[in-house]
Amino acid sequence: LLGCGGAPGGESTSTADQASTAPAAAPANEKSAAPDAHYRPAYHFTPPAGWMNDPNGMVYFEGEYHLFYQHFPDGNTWGPMHWGHAVSSDLVTWEHLPIALAPDEKGYIFSGSAVVDRGNTSGFGQGGRPPLVAMFTYHDMAAEKAGKQDFQSQAIAYSNDRGRTWTKYAGNPVIPNQGVRDFRDPKVFWDAAHRQWTMVLAAQDRVQFFSSPDLKNWTYRSDFGASAPNHAGVWECPELFPLKISESGETAWVLLVSINPGGANGGSGTFYFVGDWDGSTFRPRKEAIPTPQDTVQWVDYGRDNYAGVTFSDVPATDGRRIFMGWMSNWDYANEVPTTTWRSAMTLPRELTLHDTDFGTRLHQQPARELLKLRGQRIPLEMPRIGDGTTTIDLSQLPAAGVFELDLTIDLVDSDAEELYLTLSDATGEQFYRVGYSRRSGVDNAFFTDRRQAGQTDFRPSFAPGLTVAPRWSNEGNLRIHAFFDRTSAEVFFDGGDPVLTDIFFPTEPFTQLTLESYGSAGEGMQEGWSLVEGSIWALE
Ligand code: FRU
Repeated sequence: LLGCGGAPGGESTSTADQASTAPAAAPANEKSAAPDAHYRPAYHFTPPAGWMNDPNGMVYFEGEYHLFYQHFPDGNTWGPMHWGHAVSSDLVTWEHLPIALAPDEKGYIFSGSAVVDRGNTSGFGQGGRPPLVAMFTYHDMAAEKAGKQDFQSQAIAYSNDRGRTWTKYAGNPVIPNQGVRDFRDPKVFWDAAHRQWTMVLAAQDRVQFFSSPDLKNWTYRSDFGASAPNHAGVWECPELFPLKISESGETAWVLLVSINPGGANGGSGTFYFVGDWDGSTFRPRKEAIPTPQDTVQWVDYGRDNYAGVTFSDVPATDGRRIFMGWMSNWDYANEVPTTTWRSAMTLPRELTLHDTDFGTRLHQQPARELLKLRGQRIPLEMPRIGDGTTTIDLSQLPAAGVFELDLTIDLVDSDAEELYLTLSDATGEQFYRVGYSRRSGVDNAFFTDRRQAGQTDFRPSFAPGLTVAPRWSNEGNLRIHAFFDRTSAEVFFDGGDPVLTDIFFPTEPFTQLTLESYGSAGEGMQEGWSLVEGSIWALE
């Protein structure tokens, strides 16, 4: 595919040819008769066919959320990268559009971002309307194979028809490579306070900041990260954005960074810094970096949330930051047991910042739009979760294995030590477990277990043990809010910190939910834990 789609050195426009590689406007979650249709998620975005990795270019424009993504439409493993494209008016239902950007003689189209150029600073706009401008990385495969170091550079493309067709800029690349092997994933935003476009870019073991008046001419400003913690792998897909701290109302800057390998529980993962941005330099707030419980602030402790970034230009009613990540892990992404398509995105999540005893931390909540997907409510009515089991039969749900769960548990007056919430097939042979433990050794931690959740042998590192996340608080009620889909779980503990996202591949759908707790009741203590509130909602 390298070499198609562009006139050498000239401007190249998306063609009908490229458009035909993706089915137009098929409902994103449509089930097909494919052999792996039972693995296709219901809540989550998946590509119509072929390979998908990182979300790209997430931008809101004229009533539409645009989601682009790293895509190889002609194969189910990573290959020549395109930008796939879908739009949504509500973040919940997605319409597939033709491929936005296809590889050309300059290389594959790697990850990047898109902005609304409201002031037409780029001059790409027509008829007084702002253009959409995408920034991406060219990955020159031939140069890489020839052993060169400078095979990644930054480039732009624009659209004047609401993202339906894109024209690559004739002057690409706008930032040539300076001899850094891993030099990619430009994320751009309008830096209103400093009246400039700011770009953050991954450069191997650090991020680099650039600024521009017009999206075409970029000036290097500074580096961050080479001496910060967390360098077991290469840094990728950074993003910098401002967010108000809920408690003080003060604005801080969040720097997201993805790392591969070196994630919280192995393989690839995403972490963050909280700091200040002065228009040219990022400075982390010291107290926000290592906490007593953890040296790195992880966005997600699960194995399957990578390369996530947030939407730009969301209507500023409440300055909402909406995050989506790629729900897989480079450890095994190419081997997961689906064949007609590969991988899904996380749900859209709203990010907030909070001052806590463990520094200033990101909290995540499923985007409020997901309330629309709540169908029939099944209340959980047992007063206590005790020794022995309480099993809830979910075989009557309209979509087997697909539901939202929210439960709050009072830990006071009980010396129970472990809580299990187990999702299993009808026989109980395959199961996925979400748990909380205050046993010594695993002191005050959440965990998930997918070791017996179906197919795992496609890669030994897929399910070697428990996936663990610290519980930040010792007090108060414990809350587990989760979305279970056919092949994934996103678990928001204690109001959104920590969060744990996992994929799994059961042979039969999970239709039973078992709640149980272990640990003997001491004197004056009650057995089990009391359930303050518990609900399950079927998918509407
Ligand atoms: C992250 C990543 C990016 C790169 C893209 C290529 O998953 O490696 O750094 O741009 O995937 O598909």
